[in-house]
Amino acid sequence: MKLSLIVAIAENNVIGKDNKLIWHLPADLKYFKALTMGCPIIMGRKTFDSIGKPLHGRTSVIITRNPNYRQDGCLIAHSLQEATAMLKHEAKAFIIGGEQIYRQAINMVDFLYVTKVHHAFDGDAFFPEIKPDLWEKTFQSDHQPDDKNAYPYSFMVYKRKTISIP
Ligand SMILES: NC(=O)c1ccc[n+]([C@@H]2O[C@H](COP(=O)([O-])OP(=O)(O)OC[C@H]3O[C@@H](n4cnc5c(N)ncnc54)[C@H](OP(=O)(O)O)[C@@H]3O)[C@@H](O)[C@H]2O)c1
Repeated sequence: MKLSLIVAIAENNVIGKDNKLIWHLPADLKYFKALTMGCPIIMGRKTFDSIGKPLHGRTSVIITRNPNYRQDGCLIAHSLQEATAMLKHEAKAFIIGGEQIYRQAINMVDFLYVTKVHHAFDGDAFFPEIKPDLWEKTFQSDHQPDDKNAYPYSFMVYKRKTISIP
């Protein structure tokens, strides 16, 4: 299975505040929808609470430590490993957050789909460092603000570098 992570990150690495997204960038929501449609999406329980419902056209897998947790229309896993094992017959899946899940998943995924929002925000959830020795940027498209999108942003794709042992 091709396992990817998708995230929108502010200039100061903030990704959220008070369990909510901070900025409203319709172009990024559209990009997220286009990339993830038809694919399973894996998220932490807090991110599910923040979204509030399963996203249509995508199987939602929610990760929680609570053995009694249930959510209509969603699959429940109790670790990232269990979530990916449940989806092993799928061609691809996306990890969609939040901070706790990204920090664990960045060691497991092969691709990062990053929307960089070129503005610093006050927040309480952060994305970990994308280490240049581990990740190669393979794509970037830059976009200026417009009447619907208040901040400049860039869509970027990173691929995990293959480490060759000399
Ligand atoms: N900018 C973006 O692209 C983006 C995307 C998604 C989310 N966000 C933001 O990220 C923030 C939420 O992140 P967060 O770190 O607070 O929460 P989170 O990662 O969404 O969820 C954390 C929860 O996941 C469960 N969990 C984590 N690790 C686990 C493990 N190893 N095994 C089993 N369960 C595990 C626990 O659930 P239980 O407590 O139920 O046990 C934990 O409380 C919000 O502000 C949200 O808006 C931003």
